Amino acid sequence: MSSETAKAKLISAAGEAREKAHVPFSKFKVGAALETSSGEIITGCNIENASYGLTLCAERVAIFKAISEGKRDFAAIAVVVDTDELTPPCGACRQIIWEFCGDIPITMANLKGRVETIRMSELLPRAFDAGFLTST
Ligand code: THU
Repeated sequence: MSSETAKAKLISAAGEAREKAHVPFSKFKVGAALETSSGEIITGCNIENASYGLTLCAERVAIFKAISEGKRDFAAIAVVVDTDELTPPCGACRQIIWEFCGDIPITMANLKGRVETIRMSELLPRAFDAGFLTST
C-alpha cells in the first residue's frame, strides 16, 4: 500500500461494499476491499444463505471476484465492520488470503474511525501452503 491516502481510499471502498452485505440471518455486515499492485480496488461483502453453511465472507467474495477477473497481484486488503473491537478475518479467510495474497497488510477498521494494520504473517503464523505439497 503506497500511502495513508491509499489506505483511506481502501477503507472507504470496504465501507461502501459493507452496505451491500446480504445478512438477513446474522445482521452482521462486513465489507472488504482488495488493492491490486497497480492500485485497482476490488470489493466484496458477506452474502448469507438460509442454508447457513453456504455463507460467503466479504474477504473471500473480494478475492474470488478479483481472481475471476484475471487479477493476481495484490498489495493490501481492508475489512470494515461496525464493531467497537476491530474484527479480524475468520480462519477460513486467513487461509484464502494467504493463498492468493501472501504476506500482505490487512487493515481492519470500524465505523468510528478506529483503524489497525497488521501483516498476514502475524494473523496466520506457520501457515500451510502449496510449498508443503511438494516436500515429501
Ligand atoms: N464474516 C465475514 O464476512 N468475514 C469474516 O472474516 C468473519 C465473518 C461474515 C460471515 C457471516 O455472514 C457473518 O460475518 C457472521 O459470521
